[in-house]
Amino acid sequence: MKRYLVQTMGCQMNVHDSRRIEEVLSADGWLPTDEPALAQLIVFNTCSVREKAEHKLMSALGTVRGFKEERRDVVIAVAGCVAQQEGERLLQKARFVDVVIGPDNISELPALIAHAQGGGAPVARTVFDVHAPAFLEATPAPSKLEVTAFVTVMKGCDERCTYCVVPYTRGPERYRSSDAIIHEIRGMVEGGVREVTLLGQTVNSWHEPNADEPADEAPPWSERLARTSQFAALLRRIAVEVPELGRLRYTSPHPRHLTDELIEAHADLDVLARHVHLPVQSGSNRLLKRMLRRYTRELYLERIARLRDAVPGLTLSTDLIVGFPGETDEDFAQTLELVREAGFVAAFAFKYSPRPNTPSLKLEDDVPEAVKAARLQAVFDVVAAQQRPHLESLVGTTQRVLVEGISRTDPKRSTGRTARNEIVHVDGVDLEGAFLDVVIERANEHSLMGRRLSEAPVERPRFPHRLKVVG
Ligand code: 5AD
Ligand code: SF4
Repeated sequence: MKRYLVQTMGCQMNVHDSRRIEEVLSADGWLPTDEPALAQLIVFNTCSVREKAEHKLMSALGTVRGFKEERRDVVIAVAGCVAQQEGERLLQKARFVDVVIGPDNISELPALIAHAQGGGAPVARTVFDVHAPAFLEATPAPSKLEVTAFVTVMKGCDERCTYCVVPYTRGPERYRSSDAIIHEIRGMVEGGVREVTLLGQTVNSWHEPNADEPADEAPPWSERLARTSQFAALLRRIAVEVPELGRLRYTSPHPRHLTDELIEAHADLDVLARHVHLPVQSGSNRLLKRMLRRYTRELYLERIARLRDAVPGLTLSTDLIVGFPGETDEDFAQTLELVREAGFVAAFAFKYSPRPNTPSLKLEDDVPEAVKAARLQAVFDVVAAQQRPHLESLVGTTQRVLVEGISRTDPKRSTGRTARNEIVHVDGVDLEGAFLDVVIERANEHSLMGRRLSEAPVERPRFPHRLKVVG
């Protein structure tokens, strides 16, 4: 029996790609295992967005090196962004690696493994599939109910944020047709999926692949807000054509594609979550310009104000970089002020990390490590100070919760999320996939505790034979 182990590092796109890797392998007769000792194939699906992530790969490779010396029949493959970035170089750096495979080449994996098993020389395949974009369809595992699922709608990135390696590891933007997207979502919903998250590096720049390129002449960088949104039309089509879908999210949008049309879609579509993760990166116009983000803090704040007018109670989260080259105390103070003004209830904040091939490599990484660390902590403190009262304000209210699974800390409890992305724990098990109305009784640091308003779920899973539902 051929067995494989995939170790995933990095973002949701990698989690998604790992699923495609598993599907490609399973179609080729492979079975999964969690035990390295039982595996004939180990795949590391890697991330290179920050240096730390790349170190993770190197230490993971260190752990299999000895293993590979003892068991020469084991195939070691490196996939994902480090694979794309390093290509052949990785084969030089780690001579026991057999296969290096870029994100666009996943479907070639079985052939490359066969080549390695047949004694072939180590090989790197990292070619972007620009003309015939191979979006691998997801096939939800029939044996396993998945409450939430990701659907890729576009890949690559045409922005050139100066710190970011993604345009070089994921290539140019390519879009999937709305027909294929809807087909996949429909199949997932029929398989029991309740919530879909549309996935793309700049997900809201999506447009129909054979449509004319959207007009995007270059007015001054600070006014480069996109004017039309085919993405908004896609959301409307999904809402109408897959009415059984329980909840729809998307990640990550770029602020300059947060058009009026997209805001109107939020106002109109009940299925859309009332939470948007909208990376801002910095609150200083000087730094936003250096980062080539193509918006100002004023434009960002104006966009989210409109979004909030359209969707009362909407929550926002963001990504932030601290210690970008040249970031002064004053620049950082503006970031903190923006975090307060925007009222983010969650933020992923990162210390700037110089990456290969990126334009900001030319800039000196001049913010001392200690200052980066202090700024990171300051961001977390401000966000925590906002999250806490937000969660406390929900005590005593009733929230609709989509149950995702058993609580990680208490096997007698289930955990789910509200439309605004608050995490809610509730007594009871075997509720995966059910929408419950939950009276919030207590706020923890990052989550809520509640009790079910009634025993019966508000809405049962569409395929109850797949589940045991209590009540
Ligand atoms: N250094 C630090 N953070 C980075 N990010 C992307 N590139 C870098 C970098 N070179 C962060 C951004 C992005 C998130 C996925 O990772 O905040 O939104
Ligand atoms: Fe990177 Fe900017 Fe593209 Fe996001 S939009 S993936 S930060 S280049």
